[in-house]
Amino acid sequence: MILYFSGTGNTKWVAEHLSDATNDTIFSIPDELKKGTLHYTLKDYERLGICFPTHGWQPPHIVRDFLRRATFENVRYLYAVTTCGDNIGYAMSILRKELHHKGLSLDAAFAVVMPESNVCFSFLHLDTPESEARKIEAARQRMPHICKLVKQKASGIEELVKGAIPFTYTYIIGGFYNKHLITDEKFWVDIDKCIQCGLCAKRCPVDDIEGLPPHWKHNGSCTNCLACYHYCPTHAIHWGSMQRGQYYFNKREDQK
Ligand SMILES: Cc1cc2nc3c(=O)[nH]c(=O)nc-3n(C[C@H](O)[C@H](O)[C@H](O)COP(=O)(O)O)c2cc1C
Repeated sequence: MILYFSGTGNTKWVAEHLSDATNDTIFSIPDELKKGTLHYTLKDYERLGICFPTHGWQPPHIVRDFLRRATFENVRYLYAVTTCGDNIGYAMSILRKELHHKGLSLDAAFAVVMPESNVCFSFLHLDTPESEARKIEAARQRMPHICKLVKQKASGIEELVKGAIPFTYTYIIGGFYNKHLITDEKFWVDIDKCIQCGLCAKRCPVDDIEGLPPHWKHNGSCTNCLACYHYCPTHAIHWGSMQRGQYYFNKREDQK
């Protein structure tokens, strides 16, 4: 069983790769949360995988909330994969702590660098087309290695990209970011550009968008995954004063 969260498709792609290689079924964490019953009993031969994007050098709050609410029985092999644009700081250590509260520990942990999706700071930029293609190619080449280890149920594996000064990024900058800046309050729509297609609401993994033209519910569910911003076909959605290009996995293929 593979449980994943993904805003712009990078992590979904990783989860799908793992599923193809292992025959393990994939489940989206937001969809599971909508079902209500979060009790999972694994078969003796099953693996449990958790895949998530790194947000502000931490796991997104939806992943942490899910793990707090879910119960797992008979977990014999557990691994996690996080995708990131650059580096993950101590995101995996935070996940380990969440799992530890459930009596679970990771056998293997991986980070996969993928194209950047965050546009919420002026110093952050999406990848150039060349760097985007390079990252995807590198990830494509790395996935068989990760899949092989997971398939073999290899343990004691940690292949992460923590970056420089991970404590500062994770707990000081990331702590502030995740506490104060993960919000839907800053999204707004350029009405002249909005074609009222409703794709933003459809793509929002947490159903935080309603109405036409769209508005955000401000109910605390937003993870700032930016799916609404990136998938908008007319680039009508803004986050604060930032409007600096769009990315989602396979966007360039879609445009061909
Ligand atoms: C709100 C937000 C915060 C992010 N924080 C980080 C980060 O701390 N480190 C990093 O390398 N990438 C960061 N990124 C980039 C994503 O982790 C990366 O693009 C990821 O692969 C997106 O996965 P997804 O397409 O499945 O949503 C962030 C992206 C968003 C939207």
